[in-house]
Amino acid sequence: MAINRVCENQEFLHNTEQLEFQALRGIFMSMNKEKHSSDWDEAAAEKILQEKKGMPGALLPILHALQEKFGYIAPEFVPTIAEALNLSRAEVHGVISFYHDYRQTPPGKQVIKICRAEACQSMAGRQLENHVKQKLGLEYRGTTPAGDYTLEPVYCLGNCACAPSMMMGGKLYGRVTPEKFDALLDKKEDAA
Ligand code: FES
Repeated sequence: MAINRVCENQEFLHNTEQLEFQALRGIFMSMNKEKHSSDWDEAAAEKILQEKKGMPGALLPILHALQEKFGYIAPEFVPTIAEALNLSRAEVHGVISFYHDYRQTPPGKQVIKICRAEACQSMAGRQLENHVKQKLGLEYRGTTPAGDYTLEPVYCLGNCACAPSMMMGGKLYGRVTPEKFDALLDKKEDAA
């Protein structure tokens, strides 16, 4: 399958190597997809905490589940997590701030993730990120004032053959030029 076709269709279906790559990409995609849709709900957060606090190494699964559910981890819930796991607040805060993917404020309606890893950087990824920052008037981890877009860095989306890559609204895009980004953004705004 020609690389161009792979990049256009986002399909990897034929030989073993491609299937392995597809599996790897699936892992990256699941780590980066955005499924949340709700505001913070203390009762739902508490339920997640109670369900997972007995797991070995429960902190990361709890944080992951909270972020998946709400799109962020409310700072006011940190003491509750700390108490349930017999950790200090500083330890919980330390883990949240160590992992780039965890947010402590609600994200915008669309989260845009620009890949900053090597393969994308070598294929004009820096030019793309500068363009996106300028276009949205954001730095990384920022959200537009109306709450439409949040911009985040990501370090490999498993789509290196189609660099530079990005995700918008949970969807993966390859070979993204500034022009292609503008067209995607226009499409999103038309659909809103
Ligand atoms: S380096 Fe960007 S997708 Fe892998």
